Amino acid sequence: ISDAAHDEHAPAGHVPGEHSSAGHVRIFDTSLRDGEQSPGCSMTAPQKLRFAHALADLGVDVIEVGFPASSEAEVEATRRIVREVRGSTLAALARCHTGDIQASARALEGAEDARMHVFLSTSPLHREHKLGLNKEQVIERAVMGVEMARRYLDDVEFSAEDALRTEPEFLVEVCSAAIAAGATTLNIPDTVGYTTPAEIRSLFEYLRVNVRDAKRAVFSAHCHNDLGLAVANSLAAIEGGARQVECTINGIGERAGNCALEELVMALNVRRSYFNATTRIDTRRLVPTSRLLSRITGMRVQRNKAIVGQNAFAHESGIHQHGMLKHRGTYEIMRPQDVGWEQSQMVMGRHSGRAALIDRLQTLGLMVDDTRLNDVFEAFKVLAEKKREVFDADLETLVLGTDAPL
Ligand code: KIV
Ligand code: ZN
Repeated sequence: ISDAAHDEHAPAGHVPGEHSSAGHVRIFDTSLRDGEQSPGCSMTAPQKLRFAHALADLGVDVIEVGFPASSEAEVEATRRIVREVRGSTLAALARCHTGDIQASARALEGAEDARMHVFLSTSPLHREHKLGLNKEQVIERAVMGVEMARRYLDDVEFSAEDALRTEPEFLVEVCSAAIAAGATTLNIPDTVGYTTPAEIRSLFEYLRVNVRDAKRAVFSAHCHNDLGLAVANSLAAIEGGARQVECTINGIGERAGNCALEELVMALNVRRSYFNATTRIDTRRLVPTSRLLSRITGMRVQRNKAIVGQNAFAHESGIHQHGMLKHRGTYEIMRPQDVGWEQSQMVMGRHSGRAALIDRLQTLGLMVDDTRLNDVFEAFKVLAEKKREVFDADLETLVLGTDAPL
């Protein structure tokens, strides 16, 4: 939607993506499920409803609204969202258990556009220590879950939990069986944030070639951030053929979180000609949506967080401020307005130089002649050594205070 593509900044002769026809990548937001279930992020039903509206307005393709089997309150919250929110597919999570699937079906009843999301662990560690099932039993249970979900809805997603630590050949068998049972989306979660970009890309390529009837399903990535690689891994999965990415606003989620929606979307947007992929996200709503989530949960984002952090478009050093005043492209690869900020911020502090001071004084209508400017600049430097940030009001006092005639 936004015209924030800045691939014009790529060096001449840069290598475009080989995956030249990624096309549309679905954005599946799980802030209200994977995000909400993490410490410090729980929400009440009215808060969930409010945030679901914001996600629909943002242009998210699929909103995972919750895990209805976890409580009656979760069923009720899901029902309220189903009654009110339009414009996105609404998904509910269930284990491959009869009771879970029935709870999701009850919660989603009457939805205009709904998806049942069933999941089951597939890795050796989870098979042995969590499920106590052998490979055949895992396949049987996955098929049972998908078939049962299909009795309620046509849109069924199957997730192979801990897929990135599953034997690839076995993953092929599970995915093939899930497609045969009626799954329309196959999600390959990196549940514990263990993989690397090259590895996940190869896995997606391998699955697309080896899974039977792979073309009948959309492959999806769901990356956790335990090694700080969730966004990089999700982008690599797209290069490997994923056409849905599961993510959360501000990257909230279990432990170190999930792939951050705003970072993934802006990487696709800014490097559009590299990835050749588009999303439906209205990028100008990224900052307001991030802020709404922080207000609801009380969990603030770090200042230097990409895209939505307070410092994401702030410049303090003299060299950078000088460059920015000449051409914003020197130190910014996207426009702040394209992600919902009003403007870039020139922070006046001890690293700022003369050019930035002049610009600020002009903006504030406080410009002085050249001789006085030297004094004001000296006074500004002295003040900046004492304060972390020199605010407009400080500059006003400084200029007016040293202006003898006034
Ligand atoms: O991380 C994970 O494996 C999950 C699944 C339930 C999709 O959140
Ligand atoms: Zn997860």
